[in-house]
Amino acid sequence: MTPDQGTLSKTLRNDLSPTTDAIQAQDNAHHLHPFTVHHELRDQNPRVISKAKGVYLWDSDGNRIIDGMAGLWCTQVGYGVEELADIASDAIKSLSYYNTFFQTTTPAVAALSELVASKTPADLNQIFFASSGSEANDTTIKFINYYWNLKGQPQKKAIIAREKAYHGTTIGAASLTGLPFMHDIFDLPLPGIHHIGPTPHYFEYGEDGESEEEFAGRCAQALEDKILELGAENVAAFIGEPVMGAGGLMTPPKGYWQKIEAICRKYDVLLWSDEVICGFGRTGSWFGCQTYGYTPDIITMAKGMSSGYVPISAVALNEEIASTIVEADSEMAHGFTYSGHPVCSSVALRNIQLLEEWDLVGERGKKTSEHFQKRLSELADHPLVGQTRGIGMLGALELVKEKGTKERFDPEGHAGATCRTHCFNTGVVMRAVGDTMFLSPPLVISEDEIDEMFDLIKTSLDLTHQSLNG
Ligand SMILES: Cc1ncc(COP(=O)(O)O)c(C=O)c1O
Repeated sequence: MTPDQGTLSKTLRNDLSPTTDAIQAQDNAHHLHPFTVHHELRDQNPRVISKAKGVYLWDSDGNRIIDGMAGLWCTQVGYGVEELADIASDAIKSLSYYNTFFQTTTPAVAALSELVASKTPADLNQIFFASSGSEANDTTIKFINYYWNLKGQPQKKAIIAREKAYHGTTIGAASLTGLPFMHDIFDLPLPGIHHIGPTPHYFEYGEDGESEEEFAGRCAQALEDKILELGAENVAAFIGEPVMGAGGLMTPPKGYWQKIEAICRKYDVLLWSDEVICGFGRTGSWFGCQTYGYTPDIITMAKGMSSGYVPISAVALNEEIASTIVEADSEMAHGFTYSGHPVCSSVALRNIQLLEEWDLVGERGKKTSEHFQKRLSELADHPLVGQTRGIGMLGALELVKEKGTKERFDPEGHAGATCRTHCFNTGVVMRAVGDTMFLSPPLVISEDEIDEMFDLIKTSLDLTHQSLNG
């Protein structure tokens, strides 16, 4: 080994404890980050997160931060669970890699398929694996096309999504996403993908005098109108997140999903639930569709499936779609090198078992999330907060200028960014989209940790109030 290689391997093992400045210099010199204005980041330097345990992160200067976002909505069981480390280590030692392409399988992926199918609702029992939510969603677009081709309806290809939806960043998933800033610079969306509004978010789009149910009816009517405009014979599927996540943590208005499901059934349009955030206990059930009482034809999932320890995602198909594909004579010419990766499958399998054993989607999860929702709703009294909303272990706060109104600070997004910075400096991670602040903590968080988190958030809101009004 050359001296340089020796230094590098030591650095990777963290033995050298490089200084924050050194890490930032390396990062600024070579690392292109997701969703970033790069020159701004390089001027201000990235924060360096160097370790994590349970619900806490530590930065490279030793500051402890409670992670109110479970990473990116994913670390259901918390950080640093040794058992998952041991499972990964054992899996690497026994079968570090093998593919599932050439009429082969592995014990881990077979067991994971069975376990996932036991959690999905109704007859969504056939599971295809990928590595990210975006890959699962791009895969699903292809499966939908394949299904309607096999059914002799090759014209039935339009997919309807919603304004402000977030479905990922690969070319199909980004097209499904309803955020124009993710389309314009990349010449998206792909043809055949349509977005409807209003976004089902009563606080923002409900009209004066309109009840929540009436608003839900207006949102569902927009779907029916779009189907009729395109011709039902041309509409393949409707995709929605049970709770819209990255576009603004928007819980659906009452009765919304029942109305959407009825319209999909009426026009033979496949109902696709993107559960990349909501899956694996985030809303209080294994899947968000169970919380909201609808039965999709397709579910996509990722994140909480492995608590973010390893990259893995999946598509669950119902029997009608799956059997059409299974019985087809054509080869389903789709798959990834890492579809059903044995190490990722082993970790995901144990992670889901831990969710069961720790009762995070059962009584314990229910009790913790009730406490979380209670502490969240108490923030509604804060002078900056126009609304709080949430379900399960998801929560949002709307920052407004005038309490009792929906008037925002100018420019929009400034209050949110200010609050996020105060949160981080105070010791809690909250995410901001515009002037909406989100929470999605690890499901394993304790009631004491929830109290600590909300005390820090209250302090951060006070500081934000001072900054904005001072
Ligand atoms: C609902 C939803 N779908 C898809 C994705 C994309 O997942 P990934 O970032 O793993 O590609 C995300 C990511 O946050 C998501 O929230």
